[in-house]
Amino acid sequence: MIKKIGLYDSGVGGLSVVRAIRRALPGADMVYTGDTCHVPYGEKPFSEILEYSRGISAFLAGKDIDALVIACNVSSAVACGYLLETYPGMPVISMIECGAALCGGSGSVGVLATEGTVKSGAYPAALSAAGFRGAVAQEACPEFVPIVEGNLLGTAFCREACRRHCQKVAGADTVILGCTHYPLMLEAIREFLPKSRIADPAEEAARRLLEIGAEGGGRLEAYTTGDREQFEKTASLFVPGIKARRLVWKEGRLEEDN
Ligand code: DGL
Repeated sequence: MIKKIGLYDSGVGGLSVVRAIRRALPGADMVYTGDTCHVPYGEKPFSEILEYSRGISAFLAGKDIDALVIACNVSSAVACGYLLETYPGMPVISMIECGAALCGGSGSVGVLATEGTVKSGAYPAALSAAGFRGAVAQEACPEFVPIVEGNLLGTAFCREACRRHCQKVAGADTVILGCTHYPLMLEAIREFLPKSRIADPAEEAARRLLEIGAEGGGRLEAYTTGDREQFEKTASLFVPGIKARRLVWKEGRLEEDN
């Protein structure tokens, strides 16, 4: 039985995973870190993303978590190996593996993701490891994270970005939302993928945790390395009324800003 789940992302996106876990396991206690001062991760060198993953996971480990969800696809692609090695015995859930697990029975798969996730090749590799032998089309969507973080949902800019980026994957049986920010754009994306099944890896992450089981009071402790008020405003779209505390980076370590 899990007592406290740690999660992290570059910003508010990982809260789409918090939301999915809450639906499946309302009693789960969670601690979340959004590294908003470094968003977007998707365009950064992998070595930098690994450094951030090191610092954040150490902070979360200090909060007595007993399960870790890498609520960020590009961090899952880059840091999963490191995290599994560093926290032996702790369940570590990767968005990439979860996404790939949702594609059984599909003849073709599309992946909408950040540039880093696409470049890493992690989705084609995970799909192949899961036994998938069909065609995989990947599309990098650099505008999507700024649309979510910048509250541009529902704008003409958002619709146009969705139209453009969905073209390449529109024929796929299943399209994976390969970035945790994208579930917030689901309606806008769906308009341009009328025939595809849309897979959100967060659902699989929640299912895996449900299998292990979690007990607690349904508490959520949230932290941001960016502007607290801005974070709370955007994060409320995923988790209404969310309150956050601020963290600061000091020589590769995260400290609470009291
Ligand atoms: N939400 C993250 C992901 O799932 C990262 C987005 C970004 O910061 O580029 O990949």
